[in-house]
Amino acid sequence: MWTLKKKSFKSMYIFIIIATLILVSLFTISTFDKKFGFSFYYSTSSSSSSSSSPIKPKIQEKSEWLTNFVDPLIGIKNGYVFPGPCLPFGVVEVGIDTYDAGYTVDGAVTGISHIDRPKYGVISQFPFFTPMESFDLKNYSSIRSLEHFEVGYSRIGLYRYHLVVDGQYVSGEISVTLNEMKGFGRYKDWWFGPEYSVDFCSQFDKNASEYYTFWNGIITSNSSYQTSGINPICAILAFDTTKGSVIKSRVGISFISVDQACKNAQEEIPNWDFDLTKEKSVEAWEVELEKIQVDGGTDDLKKIFYSNLYRTMIIPSDRTKENPKWVSFDKKGRIIPNYDDFLTLRAPSVPLFTLFQQQRIIDITRSLIDIYRHAEYMPNGRCGMGNGIAQGGSSSDMVLAEIFLKEIGKDVINWEFGYKALLKNAESDPYSHGSYEGRKNLRYYVDRGYIPSNAYGVPCSRTLEYSVNDYAISLVAKDITGFILPRLRSGSFDTSSDVLDEGLNFYRGTAWEYSLDIPHDVKTLIQLSGGIAEFEKRLDLTFSNSTYEISLFRFGNVHSFFHPCLYHFIGKQWKRASIIRDILEKKFKIDNLPDTRNIYFWSVKLNGKDWKMSWFRHKDIENGGTFELEMGNEPSKKWPGDWNDINDESE
Ligand SMILES: *[C@@H]1O[C@H](CO)[C@@H](O)[C@H](O)[C@H]1NC(C)=O
Ligand SMILES: *[C@@H]1O[C@H](CO)[C@@H](O)[C@H](O)[C@H]1NC(C)=O
Ligand SMILES: *[C@@H]1O[C@H](CO)[C@@H](O)[C@H](O)[C@H]1NC(C)=O
Ligand SMILES: *[C@@H]1O[C@H](CO)[C@@H](O)[C@H](O)[C@H]1NC(C)=O
Repeated sequence: MWTLKKKSFKSMYIFIIIATLILVSLFTISTFDKKFGFSFYYSTSSSSSSSSSPIKPKIQEKSEWLTNFVDPLIGIKNGYVFPGPCLPFGVVEVGIDTYDAGYTVDGAVTGISHIDRPKYGVISQFPFFTPMESFDLKNYSSIRSLEHFEVGYSRIGLYRYHLVVDGQYVSGEISVTLNEMKGFGRYKDWWFGPEYSVDFCSQFDKNASEYYTFWNGIITSNSSYQTSGINPICAILAFDTTKGSVIKSRVGISFISVDQACKNAQEEIPNWDFDLTKEKSVEAWEVELEKIQVDGGTDDLKKIFYSNLYRTMIIPSDRTKENPKWVSFDKKGRIIPNYDDFLTLRAPSVPLFTLFQQQRIIDITRSLIDIYRHAEYMPNGRCGMGNGIAQGGSSSDMVLAEIFLKEIGKDVINWEFGYKALLKNAESDPYSHGSYEGRKNLRYYVDRGYIPSNAYGVPCSRTLEYSVNDYAISLVAKDITGFILPRLRSGSFDTSSDVLDEGLNFYRGTAWEYSLDIPHDVKTLIQLSGGIAEFEKRLDLTFSNSTYEISLFRFGNVHSFFHPCLYHFIGKQWKRASIIRDILEKKFKIDNLPDTRNIYFWSVKLNGKDWKMSWFRHKDIENGGTFELEMGNEPSKKWPGDWNDINDESE
């Protein structure tokens, strides 16, 4: 860090322009004398929104830090990459923007954004030394030097400036005091669906000597508030650098409110400690990287490996508790995670995550399904809390199929809605929304099996992708707990009705009740219900309400009479016995039932021979016979024997 030597420049200015965004970052700015520039050090702190808190390793005891193998600049010459400080799946990404937007090797710097993506960034903060009188805020940029990037930290030197207007900016509001600049910006981009808003709060560890606001080409001195339409606004603080050349700024970001942005800044960086902030960031990355250890190979190979592993975890961004549109809870009252900033869900990181980021991919899957529930379709890409450009098929199908088939997160993922979300992609043409969600021109594909070339939009790649998506869905459908549903003339299923509502599709019954009514082929029914364990769960739920008068099971409904006996086909005859006995006691009120505790079969003999099955056929007794039943007061572990064999016999 440097002290200012050229006394002639007394003031350093810092402005924040809200056409660019952070959840929290910490800046240290110090001056260096080369052409009156300054260097700008920054780091990000922990995202408060993380839903899966990693177990802290004993980092201090480590001899070899894997973060040392990460080079944030790897691949920079061949495309857009993000090299700045960030946290695993965090919200804030502090990035250097150039004229080309995002970070490029060459070109003048136009801003330091707080949510930075290849090609765009929002909420930009920028220091400069040019005297205010000669400063052209309409066309601002800086040449650069002294750049350095490592995990959780970067530095840049900037000097000479021109301001550039960010194309995404729609409107905003800013207010400034001597040590704080806060407000919000609204943004809209072709890539996103709806407009979105970002709240920010930039706090300083010293008081400025003066503040200004800027709008529509006019700088106003001592003006503490500005609001704007399409012309960007900014606030400027002037610091007297003769009283110390290091100024710290912590910037909080929120999508909920400006107050929340200030709270994020205060809570995540309470003590203005730059080194500690950097250390915490490095530790957070170390925890993730050390989940995969590699042996052998050269250091260069390790560098390639860990740098790219690091890159897989920059997005999507965990915005749980920072979603302004809704908050969802599951049946156990746990918050359902919310993720944003998917560039594409086809990314190969999904299969990789199923190996080393299982909790994340479960959270991401839950978030996808939750987005379907609130926004009608799962996203193909998502940005700024809206479903973004869909380049081909409905790629969220691939994520759900992967997680379903690998049986990850079974207890927390709501597959009832998950399956509906898949069917929505496969069966509902999004029409005018087709560029942003679902499958564009699906109606042609459903009618003909392909999208004809005269219909708008990349018919070959879409047809191909829709086919792959459908195959993925079919793999899920094969296993999913199914229901009898009405079909439309087009052949597709109408999933709009509730399986527990008595509608016009069934005679005095619900889809739930009728779907168990396949007495001629129980074996296939079990398979279609997701196998024996799932079938048992379904039966248990069917009889869970012991009034036996709800739309899962009504004891007096003719087509339900047989349903308790379905337990026989999975070797759980005793469950049937309990239910029937309970119904008898509650509904038929027989006062003098013999010893009601001995209701379970312990062994059965027919005509003196052991009988292993929990049913018999007409021919077994048509000529008469004797059953000998040994009864007990708890289910028998020995009878009815190996029910897998029994099921085979029933064929
Ligand atoms: C802004 O400044 C840059 C760099 O000096 C220059 O190339 C560009 O033409 C300027 N743009 C406008 C609109 O003045
Ligand atoms: C800094 O400015 C704030 C108002 O913006 C004021 O309340 C505070 O006393 C000032 N602190 C110092 C050290 O001057
Ligand atoms: C702005 O306020 C400061 C401090 O109160 C004062 O010294 C300065 O003259 C004011 N500037 C203008 C242009 O009013
Ligand atoms: C069982 O169903 C009855 C009738 O619908 C209802 O009042 C009761 O709350 C249900 N019991 C449970 C435990 O869900």
